[in-house]
Amino acid sequence: MVRLDDELARLAKQYESFAMRQAEPTSPRYKELCLHVAQSRMLLRFIAGLPMERQQPNLFLAAVRTVGGVPNGAEALDEVIGQHGGMVREVMLTRTTQTNEPARCAVFLPVLASLPQPLALLEVGAAAGLCLLPDKYAYDYEGIKIGPSKPGPVSAPVFPCSVNQAAPVPRHNVDVVWRTGLDLNPLDIQCAGDMAWLRTLVWPEHRDRADRLEAALNVARADPPRLITGDLLTDLVSVAATAPKAATLVIFHTAVLNYVAAAAEREKFAAIVRGLDAVWISNEAPGVFPELAKQAPRQPSPELFFLLAIDGKPVGWTGPHGQSIHWFA
Ligand SMILES: C[S@@+](CC[C@H](N)C(=O)[O-])C[C@H]1O[C@@H](n2cnc3c(N)ncnc32)[C@H](O)[C@@H]1O
Repeated sequence: MVRLDDELARLAKQYESFAMRQAEPTSPRYKELCLHVAQSRMLLRFIAGLPMERQQPNLFLAAVRTVGGVPNGAEALDEVIGQHGGMVREVMLTRTTQTNEPARCAVFLPVLASLPQPLALLEVGAAAGLCLLPDKYAYDYEGIKIGPSKPGPVSAPVFPCSVNQAAPVPRHNVDVVWRTGLDLNPLDIQCAGDMAWLRTLVWPEHRDRADRLEAALNVARADPPRLITGDLLTDLVSVAATAPKAATLVIFHTAVLNYVAAAAEREKFAAIVRGLDAVWISNEAPGVFPELAKQAPRQPSPELFFLLAIDGKPVGWTGPHGQSIHWFA
């Protein structure tokens, strides 16, 4: 049995690491709050009282914000938990981290544009489906601008993405004829509660991301992508079978497989995708597929902590919110 002190020490490390490695560059507020959690026995005990898969900093902070807004410091955070801990706990038990970052399309586009068109897109872990609309967004790769493939009824968000010289920046958008998302719990873009949660998952200082999220939601509302409730291990094959045969089937995922705790299950998923007649694009933390990550060169900077891979071969390091690509293939 794990002793409470060991459990609290593990959590303190997790929150400190989140503060220093993830929040530090762009969210002074989250950094401050997570460092406070890491040294507060009261907060650590509160988080330790939740199931392990519900203890992540992103989930905790979004739940706190749902109940009491963004705490303006350590004291305010203590107050929310002291006075409304039950409500925060309830949110953490009913919601999961489902950040849907449409700007991640900017790291997929170079790969998608290099494939035979048209495309059939199947996203695993799609949340609200915003990454299923790459052809409907606009991009700015350090001055190389790409618009939506067809003019739409609402104005498209523009995703800026910094690139190194080796990155195969596309010159045109892609032709998508079919798109479907699979998720354990798809978020409904018509549901106010789901959308409030989605907005709360954007970190407090990230106003550009929040604005682009609204613009992407407007695009999605004009023509919502098809989302199917299901598990990536049990339902992928049947969903893939519904894709049109005349298009290149692309199965892709980003920021999903870290939620599949067992390495054996992640490997099982990889084997399922490899067994399908599809191009497989993965954009995940390197720890998700350690064998694949071993083939990649060192991360050029700590901020590029997603690994982009095509059919199991790493091709680039990317910013976690789609803001940069360091291509090395
Ligand atoms: C952090 S969100 C990422 C959403 C989207 N891929 C993006 O990058 O914007 C992770 C999503 O994966 C989904 N997910 C986690 N485990 C899953 C599983 N076993 N099967 C299907 N979806 C899963 C969650 O419900 C959640 O919506």
